[in-house]
Amino acid sequence: MRAVHTVKEVREFIHGTRGLNPLAPSVALVPTMGALHAGHEKLIQTAREQSDVLAVSIFVNPLQFGPNEDYARYPQSLPGDLEMCERNSVDLVFTPSVDEMYPSPQLTVVDVGRLTEHLCAKFRPGHFRGVATVVLKLLNIVQPHRAYFGEKDLQQLTIIRRMVSDLNLDVTIVGVPTVREPDGLALSSRNKYLDTQERKAAPALYRALEEAAGRIRAGEREAAKAREAALSVLAEFPLIRVEYFEIVDPSELQPVDVITGRVHIASAIWIGTTRLIDNVSATTERPIPSS
Ligand code: PAJ
Repeated sequence: MRAVHTVKEVREFIHGTRGLNPLAPSVALVPTMGALHAGHEKLIQTAREQSDVLAVSIFVNPLQFGPNEDYARYPQSLPGDLEMCERNSVDLVFTPSVDEMYPSPQLTVVDVGRLTEHLCAKFRPGHFRGVATVVLKLLNIVQPHRAYFGEKDLQQLTIIRRMVSDLNLDVTIVGVPTVREPDGLALSSRNKYLDTQERKAAPALYRALEEAAGRIRAGEREAAKAREAALSVLAEFPLIRVEYFEIVDPSELQPVDVITGRVHIASAIWIGTTRLIDNVSATTERPIPSS
């Protein structure tokens, strides 16, 4: 495994693997911010199985953090991260510095229109501009055939897919299902912030999402009713403050009133000073009959 810090080294490595062979090996990229856990590992393993050359980037991207967010205290564990990469036969780990990624102020940015105005974006202004911009940069640096993202960050995945399609990028985006703790809590680097009491309350988020999903699968078509049932699950936990809880269409993640097919149920909550997000999908089993 090679660990490199500069764009030039990445390019040299990738060009070296491609050589002049017309049957160039397929290259995969897994972008991360480090503090790697079993969720990231699932992405890495999926990518490993599907590609010849596997690159993982570890970069805590300042551009996607707001002024009052946790950039300065974002968990870091580079030695453990490198071990996990090594264990999973990663070929290249790219750990650039902020100066390497942003040698001059980033005047060119990517805005993915109305996908970046609601859900998380409403509460984290500029966040997805930072995500889309750094992901485009990473895709241009590594030039992978495939790049892997978790379904846990539904809005991020949807925005990246849309950016790739809108800008005709020559890369396939692969979504990987969410990895959870046995009690349902989605793995996240930020789970480290939770104290014992908060950790006990945290699985309520997934239970609430599943409550809404269960009602939709059983035929509930009114989004408001499914949402209310879910919110009453969360209301039992005084430690939890709901930031948003929405039932949205899969393509542009806009809230729906009447559920007629597949929807995503997405939520963000605060437990103490920790913000958690999660989502599930559901399809109503009784579509509205055509008249
Ligand atoms: P990070 O939070 O480190 O996540 C890296 C990738 O791991 C993302 O695609 C995320 O969706 C995925 N992931 C995290 N937890 C997961 C889980 N429990 N199950 C499955 N996948 C999971 O997301 C980012 O970094 C950044 O925004 C990034 C895309 C790297 C751009 O800076």
